[in-house]
Amino acid sequence: MREMSFPRRLPTVGLAAFRRLTFTAVVLLGLIVVTGGAVRLTGSGLGCPTWPQCGDGSFVTRTQYAGHGWVEFGNRLITIAVGLVMLVLPLVAARLRDRRRDLLRLSFGLWVGFVGQVVLGGLTVLFKLNPALVAAHFLLSMVLLLNVVVLDRRARQGRGPVRRPARPELFWLSRLLATVAAATLVFGTVVTGSGPHSGDGRAARRFGFDVRAVAQLHADVAMVLIGLVAATVLAVRLADAGAEARRTAVALLAAVAAQCGIGFAQYFSGIPVGLVELHIAGATLLWIITIRLALAVMERPPAEDEPAPGGGPDARGTAGPDHGRSAGDGRAVGDGRSGPDGAADLPAARPGTPVSA
Ligand code: HEM
Repeated sequence: MREMSFPRRLPTVGLAAFRRLTFTAVVLLGLIVVTGGAVRLTGSGLGCPTWPQCGDGSFVTRTQYAGHGWVEFGNRLITIAVGLVMLVLPLVAARLRDRRRDLLRLSFGLWVGFVGQVVLGGLTVLFKLNPALVAAHFLLSMVLLLNVVVLDRRARQGRGPVRRPARPELFWLSRLLATVAAATLVFGTVVTGSGPHSGDGRAARRFGFDVRAVAQLHADVAMVLIGLVAATVLAVRLADAGAEARRTAVALLAAVAAQCGIGFAQYFSGIPVGLVELHIAGATLLWIITIRLALAVMERPPAEDEPAPGGGPDARGTAGPDHGRSAGDGRAVGDGRSGPDGAADLPAARPGTPVSA
């Protein structure tokens, strides 16, 4: 009972403050992928030769490790900033005035993923930048980004269940697009693991694939992706999917075209470090936009304002205005407490009807 009462002593938090935190988490998680790329590309992966210490007996880099030590140590500091936000998020989600199980679960998922990432990062150093571990480290970052972008989106929406677009083709197209984008990322990491940028000249172990062959395969999947994005730009217009979906689809087309341009430029210019770093940043941005597009074709009522100060945590009430309210079109929506997304008690999915995302 004592453990249960501990979090209740913490102050309650409004959804607006929580949203600032989720947005910070999106930015920090995007940033850490880019700085992590800089660590690899400057060959600083073993700049701190041990983990979690930086050399035996010290958590801080020493002059003997020079610039590489600072790059790796700096990246570890950013990791700590990310870690703090990840740790705080589930606590804040648990103390939201307007309690939401979907936000709590997504925040906790982020925390679990972050712990996994710390362990994986440690193993990567321990196994001298094994390319499979480097690839897994990057891909787990993409999973964390997926989690945090969904969380950030949900924090801006109300409790109601998500609704598929009126045209089911659009729903499936956006999912197919996200799957092909994910495949492009996976093939990208195989190219990296076969290419020259291992992260440390002494730890030269590579996958052993012909880098030209895997780069070709990676580019082929990217071409399928660009075709799908172009089709989606048309589809969101034809299906009248709303301004946000249309804008996001166009942004994604621009991002994927730029990313392919950078990809070819780096391939034909001998994979220079600067372009590779840009390619990593582009891949991160592209993935964020892809997820946002998949979310934009779904509908949910917007988040409601926080209860007036002085109303107390119970002002929201378990039978408050959120519960059993109308979606605005006469169809009742869920209350966000029946499942991770508040939609577990809904009937089977039909176009234009509530479903779980
Ligand atoms: C939608 C388009 C693309 C996406 C999302 C994408 C994404 C990625 C990702 C995630 C990586 C691995 C980064 C890492 O492990 O640190 C990568 C590596 C790479 N990509 Fe792409 N890529 C795209 C298009 C292309 C194209 C068209 C080419 C042209 C050949 C290309 C060439 C390369 C090369 C050469 C590497 C290895 C760089 C290195 O040595 O680290 N990419 N890409």
